[in-house]
Amino acid sequence: MNSISPQSLLASLNWRYATKEFDPTRKISGETWEALADSLVLTPSSFGLQPWQFFLVESESLRAELLPNSWNQKQVVDCSHFLVLASKISMEEEDIDRFLSRTIEVRGGDIESLTGYRDIMVGFTANMDDAARLNWAKLQTYIALGQLMTSAALLGVDACPMEGIDADEYDRILGLREKGYTTSVACALGYRAESDKYASAPKVRFEKDEVLSTLS
Ligand SMILES: Cc1cc2nc3c(=O)[nH]c(=O)nc-3n(C[C@H](O)[C@H](O)[C@H](O)COP(=O)(O)O)c2cc1C
Repeated sequence: MNSISPQSLLASLNWRYATKEFDPTRKISGETWEALADSLVLTPSSFGLQPWQFFLVESESLRAELLPNSWNQKQVVDCSHFLVLASKISMEEEDIDRFLSRTIEVRGGDIESLTGYRDIMVGFTANMDDAARLNWAKLQTYIALGQLMTSAALLGVDACPMEGIDADEYDRILGLREKGYTTSVACALGYRAESDKYASAPKVRFEKDEVLSTLS
């Protein structure tokens, strides 16, 4: 396993910023996009259940429709790749069984050996009402968002995470509810425009000892 140095990691994390202006002429290459897509697939989730789907909005007309439902943030139309991270609305026993079948497919073994794990997952999801289950699924999509942003930074790709969107309108425009999903958060990806003054703005963060405490 290749590891990068602490300095390289911090250089990338300091280089990244929430990009306000993308250069609409610069596109992410196929190879780089596939790596970002794989980083989404590789995102860890609670129990490994992956209660999400990621929608890459390529269509210019769909992006134009999303724009007024995104506080008119131009990143939606100017970025190279615009992604909507959506949460699974329900998590039924059949979804858990699908995940267990996939586990056997990938790792081998027999499904009976996973009965105990199945019971735990069924119990966990059954203990929540619909709102709590959806909130749980939404939390998982934010792990994907974090992984995506860090991966992008390491690849030299700019990103803007976006909560300034009307999730209900996104669902309607993209037809997500019919597919069993609802919009959680979006992320614009591409390359910064030279005119974006935020690129050089110092990071505003609390001091490390204010946010990280050691309890010994
Ligand atoms: C979940 C999330 C949602 C955000 N939504 C928006 C957004 O809609 N528009 C925007 O310009 N920035 C958005 N941001 C960017 C934050 O304002 C930004 O990350 C924060 O101010 C720290 O600055 P930096 O990312 O440039 O270091 C969002 C960030 C996160 C993590």
